[in-house]
Amino acid sequence: MTSLTAPSETGLLQGADWWRQAAVYQIYPRSFADANGDGIGDLTGITSRIPYLQELGIDAVWLSPFYPSALADGGYDVADYRDVDPKIGTLDDFDEMSRALHAAGIRLIVDIVPNHSSDLHAWFQEALAAPAGSPARDRYVFRDGRGENGELPPADWESVFGGPAWTRTPDGQWYLHLFAKEQPDFNWQNEEVREDFRRTLRFWSDRGVDGFRIDVAHGLAKDLTDPLPSAAEIARITEPGRNPLWDRDEVHEIYQDWRRVFDEYDPPRIAVAEAWVATPRRPRYARADGLGQAFNFDLLQAPFAAGPFRDIVTENLALSAESESSTTWVFSNHDRVRHATRYGLPLILDAADSGEQTRDWLLRGAPEAELDRDLGLRRARAATLFELALPGSAYLYQGEELGLHEVGDIAPEARQDPTFFHSPGVDVGRDGCRVPLPWTREGASFGFGSGEAHLPQPAWFGDASVEAEDDDASSTLNLYRRALALRHELQTGEELEWIEALTGGDVLAFRRPNGWTCVTNFGDEAVALPAGELLLASGPVDDELPAATTVWLR
Ligand code: NOJ
Ligand code: CA
Repeated sequence: MTSLTAPSETGLLQGADWWRQAAVYQIYPRSFADANGDGIGDLTGITSRIPYLQELGIDAVWLSPFYPSALADGGYDVADYRDVDPKIGTLDDFDEMSRALHAAGIRLIVDIVPNHSSDLHAWFQEALAAPAGSPARDRYVFRDGRGENGELPPADWESVFGGPAWTRTPDGQWYLHLFAKEQPDFNWQNEEVREDFRRTLRFWSDRGVDGFRIDVAHGLAKDLTDPLPSAAEIARITEPGRNPLWDRDEVHEIYQDWRRVFDEYDPPRIAVAEAWVATPRRPRYARADGLGQAFNFDLLQAPFAAGPFRDIVTENLALSAESESSTTWVFSNHDRVRHATRYGLPLILDAADSGEQTRDWLLRGAPEAELDRDLGLRRARAATLFELALPGSAYLYQGEELGLHEVGDIAPEARQDPTFFHSPGVDVGRDGCRVPLPWTREGASFGFGSGEAHLPQPAWFGDASVEAEDDDASSTLNLYRRALALRHELQTGEELEWIEALTGGDVLAFRRPNGWTCVTNFGDEAVALPAGELLLASGPVDDELPAATTVWLR
């Protein structure tokens, strides 16, 4: 087992293992800070907020896509993998941001989107202009249609965002897009595609990037042998690795190849896979000869309850040991309803998958009466302290350190997310967790920029702003600051031992090798506060451990 290398004088975790127990802060660049007042967050805005990030105490930033994009999917439709979107900056701004982050002791992870490009990518434009069967079309997935005149798509597959996964081109052929129609899937059997991504990984590594977050890592390798199976036939395939579109074994050859690129650098570049696969399949994505680490979304999908939390932690620690990686924990990101809100919908305690409940709540116009904001936040703070005491990496999403709730009431005409447009009445989309951050109590966009923000901010954002929380000792922001600072001091080997004498009913207690102890009361009633030196609490405690509260003890 590895213990964490100590922070250096600059604060940078040193050595090749720096990532194993890092606290990584996700920035969604268009909604973080807007330096030039055009309503869109930008790289200069990020640079200007580095003192804030440093004070927060995170180890690394993961930057969601900042590449040239028409924003058909919030930047996950990349038109050029080796440039910065002029709407949010330049390569020089990127270098300046990267330099300043490193000087502040913060590492930088960027998002790589290899399953699909934007339809505006030069290669896709070239493919559209080229004839059927041409090398330009071979970089993507083009097929003739079915039916007498090819008027039916090659298969009846649905895209992840809803609607058909095939779109017809003016010359009659069809192309595959597992996401939006502006996101054509690459053909990963094409050597030019492989070579181009090696080039991209080196391009950013040469610029000093420390690692990569790999989008849809389970999607690249596909078996598209004709005749293509129908959606119903695919749905019947349950044997792992046999689905023609997802989680195929061959995908790991691509990552073994990438590992050779990562290892050209010192320290080797790191990678974390976004792979929505069954939990037991996850270690394959985290192998040392592949990407090295994989997101674990199990807690994000669980109700706030002791039983599921304990099972998930136990299973994932065993799985990460299997791949010799460290595990990862996530409660919120740019795709999911913020956890303060999920936990504030009372029904969630009974739900197997909290996503269903929150989606339903949003679809019905997010009725405030059903959301217990205080309870949600109390549980979210307790969950975060639980998370930050666990072995492994914690991936935090911008705004959760302010205890932000989801913005539920965005007018249809203000929405941007393709899931809203492609699946009317089924999914309200992800805009509610992507609303630009509030920095000040007042001002045009609560200090996000000097003008209006690209997504509307609600009136309650002022009270949840950095300015409002800064001076309040009991604020969520100050809780995160204290927790992250203490975590640096207390960090230890990657083991965890459940303290059975304190665990039971709604309470979970565990101890790390150096005696760092975490106790969470998931229930509705206070319980006795265990003995020990109280280091930190997620809410007020006296001689009892109140409902929905976590304490760190020693
Ligand atoms: C996962 C990303 O997190 C999400 O935002 C995006 O829409 C899809 N991948 C497609 O790239
Ligand atoms: Ca801007």
